[in-house]
Amino acid sequence: MTPEQVNLVQQSFAKVAPIADQAAIIFYDRLFEVAPSVKAMFPADMTEQRKKLMATLGVVVNGLSNLESILPAASALAKRHVGYGAKPEHYPVVGGALLWTLEKGLGEAWTPAVAAAWTAAYSTLSTFMISEAYGRAQAAE
Ligand code: HEM
Repeated sequence: MTPEQVNLVQQSFAKVAPIADQAAIIFYDRLFEVAPSVKAMFPADMTEQRKKLMATLGVVVNGLSNLESILPAASALAKRHVGYGAKPEHYPVVGGALLWTLEKGLGEAWTPAVAAAWTAAYSTLSTFMISEAYGRAQAAE
């Protein structure tokens, strides 16, 4: 990611922060619509889950300007996800739902440059997480 892309991700996430809970609702609705099979993996009451997701995204987005600082936490997060039943092929699906949510939440502020910056950010994070949790060969697929 270029420094400009890091800025775009951070600035656009700041615009979503005031509507974080609403964004998380949109995200999980979208995820369960495109991938109904993953719904059973999550708790019935998603209140806490929504908060955890948005808090973690906030930490990651902040940490993009100093990637090394968030890698240990991202690695631990990825390894916990193996226990939740997450598979490498779920990561692009989650990424698609995340980008879709940001597009809805940001409206006109969702420009091609912002989209490209988020695509790069999610790709960097998910490739790292997959490789930490399942090994490098999986991440390359
Ligand atoms: C970069 C991508 C992702 C991020 C930032 C993320 C973030 C989180 C966070 C913060 C939690 C709360 C629990 C914890 O911290 O361990 C969580 C739980 C969970 N995640 Fe993810 N996640 C990601 C990708 C995925 C994927 C690909 C799946 C596969 C379907 C998934 C499925 C789950 C499930 C099922 C739980 C709930 C576990 C439970 O409470 O029983 N996540 N996620």
